[in-house]
Amino acid sequence: MFIVFEGIDGSGKSTQARILADTFESLGIPYVLTREPSDGIVGQKIRNLTTRLGPREEFRLFLEDRLDHVQRVVAPAIRDGKHVICDRYYYSSAAYQGAQGMDPIEIIEENRSRVPVPDIVFLIEVPIETALNRITLSRSGRFSIFEKRKDLEAVARMYKTFKDPVIKRIDGEKPSAEVHLEIVGYLKKAGLKICKG
Ligand code: TYD
Repeated sequence: MFIVFEGIDGSGKSTQARILADTFESLGIPYVLTREPSDGIVGQKIRNLTTRLGPREEFRLFLEDRLDHVQRVVAPAIRDGKHVICDRYYYSSAAYQGAQGMDPIEIIEENRSRVPVPDIVFLIEVPIETALNRITLSRSGRFSIFEKRKDLEAVARMYKTFKDPVIKRIDGEKPSAEVHLEIVGYLKKAGLKICKG
């Protein structure tokens, strides 16, 4: 299964991706845990940006990274019959570059025509205040160029508009163990065998 985690920075999506990977690990379920921006050359270039580019330039760069990431990591894992757990994917482009003025539907369409479509997307939702507090606590107040309050508000508004049926909206304010159980519940319903023994 191709499983994607989405949400604004500070939503807890990376934590949930990691907890799910730990569960797969302990049950001997084959998986790959990965993320975007990826650890490839373009992904590293994105992580080292010190200013924001225009939305089209960002869109192009994130898509370039995605094509590279799919070719290097996602497609081989799917071919090998492994589950893929991906922290951010093209819904991040739709939300973040959409928040900067691009059409989110066009972004999703363009991506869908070029890369594998996920089976299920967990969109972890939290109020902006919670997200900003978590970023402050976890990184001692170091915010990246994508994390200005007004920008994040616009991103959150974008995420709210997405209607794709693969998206499962999860209340990220609940304790993380509860969030994890909800995610496992959705995966079981989708046909994944997750049980001990
Ligand atoms: P993030 O998951 O926050 O990485 P890290 O946890 O290492 O800081 O991703 C970095 C930023 O990239 C994030 O603020 C959202 C942004 N982003 C986009 O704007 N478009 C995209 O397509 C992707 C994948 C990420």
